[in-house]
Formats: sequence, C-alpha cells, structure tokens
Amino acid sequence: MADRPKFYITTPIYYPSGNMHIGHTYTTVAADTMTRFKKMLGYDTFFLTGTDEHGQKIERKAEAAGVTPQQFVDKIVAETKDLWKLMNIEYDDFIRTTDERHVKIVQKIFRQFYDQGDIYKSEYEGQYCAECEAFWTPSQLKEGNLCPDCGRPCETAHEESYFFRMSKYQDWLIDYIQTHPDFIQPSFRANETLGFLRKKLSDLCISRPKSRLSWGIELPFDPDYVCYVWFDALINYISGVGFHRNQEEFEHWWPASYHLIGKDILTTHSVYWPTMLKAIGLPMPRTIFAHGWWLTGNTKMSKSLGNVVNPMDMVERYGVDAFRYFLLSEMSPGNDANFTEEAFVARYNSDLANDLGNLLSRVLKMTLRSGGVIQPPAELTADEAELNAEVDKAVKAMESCLLAMKFDQGLAAVMNAVRAGNRYMEKTAPWSLAKEGELARLNTVLYTAADALRRVAVLLAPVMPSKMADLGAALGYNRNDFAALKISDLKTKKSDLAGRTVQDCDALFPRIQFEAAKEAAAKPAKQDKAAKAAKPAKAAAPAGVVNLIDIADFAKVQLRTAKVIEASRVEGADRLLRLRIESGGEERQIVSGIARWYTPESLAGKSIVIVANLRPAKIRGIESAGMLLAAKEGDTLRLVTTDGEIASGAEVG
Ligand code: ME8
Ligand code: MG
Repeated sequence: MADRPKFYITTPIYYPSGNMHIGHTYTTVAADTMTRFKKMLGYDTFFLTGTDEHGQKIERKAEAAGVTPQQFVDKIVAETKDLWKLMNIEYDDFIRTTDERHVKIVQKIFRQFYDQGDIYKSEYEGQYCAECEAFWTPSQLKEGNLCPDCGRPCETAHEESYFFRMSKYQDWLIDYIQTHPDFIQPSFRANETLGFLRKKLSDLCISRPKSRLSWGIELPFDPDYVCYVWFDALINYISGVGFHRNQEEFEHWWPASYHLIGKDILTTHSVYWPTMLKAIGLPMPRTIFAHGWWLTGNTKMSKSLGNVVNPMDMVERYGVDAFRYFLLSEMSPGNDANFTEEAFVARYNSDLANDLGNLLSRVLKMTLRSGGVIQPPAELTADEAELNAEVDKAVKAMESCLLAMKFDQGLAAVMNAVRAGNRYMEKTAPWSLAKEGELARLNTVLYTAADALRRVAVLLAPVMPSKMADLGAALGYNRNDFAALKISDLKTKKSDLAGRTVQDCDALFPRIQFEAAKEAAAKPAKQDKAAKAAKPAKAAAPAGVVNLIDIADFAKVQLRTAKVIEASRVEGADRLLRLRIESGGEERQIVSGIARWYTPESLAGKSIVIVANLRPAKIRGIESAGMLLAAKEGDTLRLVTTDGEIASGAEVG
C-alpha cells in the first residue's frame, strides 16, 4: 500500500442552486473514469467531489422557495448524490462546505492569514446595485453602469471589508506557471492565465458584511462578516482530505494530482487558489485541467439560463454506460462541444451497436456453434499479428491519452481496434472455416477475435463499467474477476481465455431506432416537396398551415410549464410587463408585451407555458430569458395554461 503510486483527483464542488446537468455530469464522469483507469494501472486513488453551499445565489434561491438555505441545499444535495449513483460514480468522499469539518478549517486558515498579516481591513469601493444588494466589477456592468442582473443603474459605494494580499504573490505565481508546464492544462489555458497576470493583480476582497449576506462562514475574528464564497469553496480540496484534522491522511494525499474543472472557473483555480496555498505554506497541486463547455446551440448549457439537458432523461432512455461513453468520446476536452440527441444516437449506433456489438455477437454466435468453449489457438498467421498489433496500439493509446485527459482520442483508438476485429472476421471468414471443417484454423480465429474483445473490454471498463462486465461474463469470466483486471494484464502475451465457456447474451447495445422514427416523421414532408412541384403547397398540409417542419425541428424547441412568482410594470414602456417566473426549481425573468391584457397582480401564481431554450435577449435594456406562450385573435390575447395542476418545469410537447 505504502509504496503504490498515489493519485488524488477532484471535481469542482458544484453550486446546489439547481439540479446538476450534463456539464456537471461530464466533469464528474471524466474524474470517475480517470480514477478507475488509474486503479487499473495500480495506483492508490482518492476521488473527491461535493457541493459549494454558501453565498448569495443560494440564499436568494432559498428565499424564493420559502425555505431556509440549509433546507434548500439539503434537498439538492440528496438529488445530486442520487444522480451520481445513477451515473455509477464511485467517489471516495463527498464534501459539503456546510460540513463542520470544512467550516472549522476555513476559519483556521482565516485566522492564520490574519495573524501572519496576509489579511487586512480596508475600504472597498465599487459599483453597487441597491436592488440586488450586489457589488459588480466594471467588466460585469452592462452598458456603462447597469446592473447585469436587474438592469438598474449602479452607484459607487463604499464598504469596510477584509482583503487577502493576493498581489504580493503575483511575481511568484508568474514564475511558477512558467517553470511548471504541467501546472495548468491544456497549455493554452496557462497562457490565458499568464495573460490575465500581465495586469497588476489586485488584492482579493474575501469578506461580506452580514448585513448584506448572512449565509456563509463567519470570520473567526469579526462576527459582523462572513467569508467570500470562493475563498471558502477552494479550501474544500484540502479540508476534504484531512488538513488540520488528520495530518497523516492529509500528507498521504496532498498535493492533489488533478483538479479537473471547466474553463468557466479557470481564474479562481489558477490565480486565487495557488496564491492561497502559497500563503498557507502548502505545495501546489500537480495539474489543474480546464475542459471546455457543453453547448446547446451556441450557448453554454447553464443552470441560470435554463437551457439544460437533464442527464437522468438520457440515462433513462439509453442507459448509463452508453451515455458515459458518449460524453467522453464526443468532447475533445480542450474545446467546447455541442450536445444533441441526434449526435448521441449516431455515435451510439455506429460505435456501440454496430462496431462493438457486431464483433461480440459474431464471436459468440460462431463459438456457440462450435461447442461453446474457447479453444487454444493453433499456428498464428500475419492476419492474427495484424489484429493483435491494432489492439496493442489501442492499449498504448488509451494509456497515454487518458493520462493527458484525451478521452476522445483514447476511445477512438479503441474503436479502431474494434473495427480491425470486424475486418479480421470478414477476412478470415470463420463461418466458411466451420463449413469446410478447418477446425484448427477456426479455433485460432475465434480465439484471436475473442482475445481482442477481452482486451478492448478491459480498456473500455473505466468508461462503461457495467456493460464491460457483461461483456466479460459473455466471454466466460466471473464479473468481479473481470473487473479486477489491470492494464498490465493486457500487456503480457499470456491470456487465460482458452477453456472458457462463452455465454449467450442479449444484444449489449441494441440499435436505437431514432433515425427510422425521424425518417418516418420526415417522409410526409419529403412527399410534400414532390407534391409542391406539381400542386400548390397548401394542398398537402392541414388547412391554414404552411411551412411544415420536421419533428426534429420541433424537438429543438423546449416548451415547459412555469409558475409566475410576481410581475411588475416596466417604467416607460406601458405595453411591457416584467415577470419573475419559476420553472423546475429554476428562476428566470421574462419580459413580455402583455400589459394591455393582464395586470401584474392577476399574474402572480399563474401556471403558464414558456419556450425555455430561447436565446436570452434584451427588451428595452432588460434581460429576458425565454418567452411565454399566448394565443392571439384580433384584439384578444389569452395566456396558454395547462388543463389542471402539473408541476412547474414539466415538458410540454
Ligand atoms: O462554479 N459544460 O459551481 P457550478 C461543461 N461552485 N462543464 C460544465 C458546464 C457546461 N455547460 N456547466 C457546468 C461552481 N459545468 C463553483 C465551483 S470549486 C472550488 C467551486 C461543470 O455549479 C464544469 O466543471 O457553477 C464547471 O467548472 C462546473 O460544472 C461549475 O459548476
Ligand atoms: Mg457556474
């Protein structure tokens, strides 16, 4: 145990301000896969994830929901843990910033900084929005001095605050980044950070007066203040592994091998956190890796925009392993990736149902037909050498790619080996060998193909643990024995495959008929095109309807039920109302031209239907995120509602 190499990986601790979506799921699945892979390489591993529970955002959400902040986060944390269970995430610990073990450490570090002169009290001057009770930096302000949240003008305000002497560590940090090329990855993110550090670094305001925000960790030397949420949050990476609590445990794991994050939080991790660690006197994490974003259309998928895809839906429809595979193979982690269900189905059908599924079912079928037991190979030919070499390549590629977080490239190499397996089957044609009674050659071919499958399944197991255990079972392994296989087992020429009895199994990845359904739905539209050439377009369409669309076009529009929390008039625009609405636990603001038909009071509490994934826009300088549905006829307008009670956030379609 003691001399095994160590690997400590973290995900960001997510805000439990709303349910986790595909973005959070991606980071967590990537960390889980990395951990499983490291285990297969023989590492002693620790995987930490958790939730970042303090701060204004949470306080506001709780208030809107009419519960205490603690009640609010408890519910979402429970749902988050359920999601990680569903996603087959095997974390070693789940840290919550409301945990006593965390709070104490944050306070200790505050005290240390204060005592060593790294914290001082001063006046904070900034742009303040009285309505939102928030300070904004100049770059956050919209159109001069407007609040990015509510659009009202901000004013210069002063506030006594505590500051962390971050600026003191600027030169050290620049030097550290320049001399440690692995510290911030991909390397262009290191350049981004160095670019940021070209400007003079200011000190970091790390307190908030309780009069403005009470949901936070109290400063140990001034009960009128709570800690700035980022200062509190970053400390999880050390409080989670025993800092100041269990020194032995802490020294075992720290420094972390990997902080896996999204590019949205690069600066906090590559500037705030290293300077904090330096001030504490701790070594730096080995690598901070910032991946790109999952987008819907061209916009970042985000809890606050409400344009999210629910990972639970994907798992329910297609299974957890296929979904994990898609996330990791579709995104090249340096870049952004677009999430569409079509892309999922296309990749699933080609890689999993076709390539991998086919190879397995061919090997199983032929082996079962010849007695069901995998026989040792006879003489090997160039064809076997070629396939084995492809699989060797995949083993190497998977190892080097995964260590560099290049999941997409590692998986592509494995799929190449799978396709080589299918080519091998076609070339050697075991079905003909069986017919012609060439048993020695038949045994060699079936053994070689089965062995390629075995090795591929081990390589894919960190990504698809459950399906690959199924595959192992089909090849005659006990599921647990198969799961315990190591990468080193793939590098020896020995295999314990011969003599195993294969088990027939249902298709591992049944083909998804999505395209067929889509084609069927699209056909009438195609016929319309033909019909259009001959007759007027309206002839084929229901009366009064023109511009027919495919079901796929309609599927792009996310309609959801929502509840109006409150509505107010917009000054200087008497057609407009500003609505604060809630949909599935998410709050957003919609501006709508319905003031002629509805008074603000009549709207509060109403259930409505909204277009949830409409790109946010400014209406008269006010942010509007989405659109509500209404029917209009002449001079009458009525809002679309549901026929009876249904939860807000329900899909309409
Ligand atoms: O930032 N694409 O929490 P958060 C890819 N509490 N990844 C995404 C994503 C997207 N569209 N959306 C979110 C916070 N993520 C802080 C972190 S850490 C000390 C404190 C993932 O709930 C990605 O990993 O906003 C991103 O960095 C993280 O979720 C942000 O989660
Ligand atoms: Mg965020």
